[in-house]
Amino acid sequence: MPAPDLDTIVSLAKRRGFVFPSAEIYGGFANTYDYGPLGAELKRNIRDAWWRAMVRERDDVVGIDAAMMTNPRVWVASGHTETFNDPLVDCKECRQRFRPDHIEEGQYGEPARDEAGNVRCPSCGGELTEPRLFNLMFQTQVGTVADEGSIAYLPPETAQGMFVNFKNILETSRKRPPFGIAQVGKSFRNEITPGNFVFRTREFEQMELEFFVPPDDAPQWYEYWLAERLEWYADLGIPGHQLRLRAHDADELSHYSSGTSDVEFLFPWGWGELEGIANRGDYDLRQHAEHSGQKLEYFDQASGERYVPHVIEPAAGATRALMAFLLAAYRTESVNDEERTVLGLHPRLAPYKVAVLPLSRKEPLPALATEVLGLCQPHWMCDYDETQAIGRRYRRQDEIGTPLCVTVDFDSIDDRCVTVRDRDTMTQNRVPIDALVEHLTARLDL
Ligand code: GAP
Repeated sequence: MPAPDLDTIVSLAKRRGFVFPSAEIYGGFANTYDYGPLGAELKRNIRDAWWRAMVRERDDVVGIDAAMMTNPRVWVASGHTETFNDPLVDCKECRQRFRPDHIEEGQYGEPARDEAGNVRCPSCGGELTEPRLFNLMFQTQVGTVADEGSIAYLPPETAQGMFVNFKNILETSRKRPPFGIAQVGKSFRNEITPGNFVFRTREFEQMELEFFVPPDDAPQWYEYWLAERLEWYADLGIPGHQLRLRAHDADELSHYSSGTSDVEFLFPWGWGELEGIANRGDYDLRQHAEHSGQKLEYFDQASGERYVPHVIEPAAGATRALMAFLLAAYRTESVNDEERTVLGLHPRLAPYKVAVLPLSRKEPLPALATEVLGLCQPHWMCDYDETQAIGRRYRRQDEIGTPLCVTVDFDSIDDRCVTVRDRDTMTQNRVPIDALVEHLTARLDL
């Protein structure tokens, strides 16, 4: 079945409480979104799945949670104050701003040109200024006195937290290369052209790993992480035809990178980056060593060798991944001449794992259903719903991706059994309440 268009997902996300336009009662805030009850769960599950694969189930990666606002010298050393710029042009007539490369790429349709061949404003046809560089970092002030020394930046990536803590981790965690430091957190970029829902926003979430390796081993670890990261998305349900790895051409590489590949997803408008995997060499540790005056290297006691490790960096966007998982999971199908919408999310990602549904609001069904809910809640995020006809409640759970529904009916009172209904196959099984947790555990296979 073809991927849904963007409007379909945006409208489902809003209607069911995944993602709302931010501060909607004030008319919103351009390209800014709030995550509702289901979106918050889905995003948390994505982060947890990442942390589980990258930190918990490995013995060569540790996690950190670094401060967002930190010493601004970090951003000087990383190169962000100097080079984290996009060129910008302004329209002299309508005052709108554009990235000239986006105009040339045709993001606003076929570029309009004057007789001399110069590009004109895509919005009003007016004359554009010469390009000027615009730094994407958000500046703020720390403390009560507004002077040079009080400037701080919101982080444009989480990665620098790992580099500045390299020495601390080496000294406290007993890890030695090859080992990694991972972090999940918010990042902020004053993007000139945000858009496509949560694909590109000014505030977003990243999940990044900096993996430190002996220099000679960097190429093989780069290959290793390409395969690992592609598999992570596939294991969580993104079908092969919507997923690919694309190696950057030489002219696309960042100044520090000797190799970068993107994991890409087939979005409704074409292929787009989900994650970049870069071989960053020793650039970051050398920069921070130089700027801080500290030694950032590893001394191998066995060989007596001292070296600056090289870094392989898989850098993923959690909010962008959320959008890809929603798009990949969405399907509609016809059942008995009725259409049903299903979010076939992997159970690990589904906001609710189980929904408990009493067939009727007449006691003692709600009382028994509450008892069943109490059995499930310690294990999984559950929904409870006693309104509307049962068929409509199933459809609602299908549409928000709940893998299993547990229905409590009048027979349940006598036989202490409930019906477990499967989202994907719609099959129903009768299960004793006493065996329910075990049954659901096996079915969910989290
Ligand atoms: N430390 C390297 C780094 O930050 P990046 O390619 O700029 O690399 C990594 O970012 C990932 O973060 C991207 O692949 C994307 O998923 C996500 N990302 C970057 N900018 C974003 C934005 N403005 N909105 C949403 N996600 C973004």
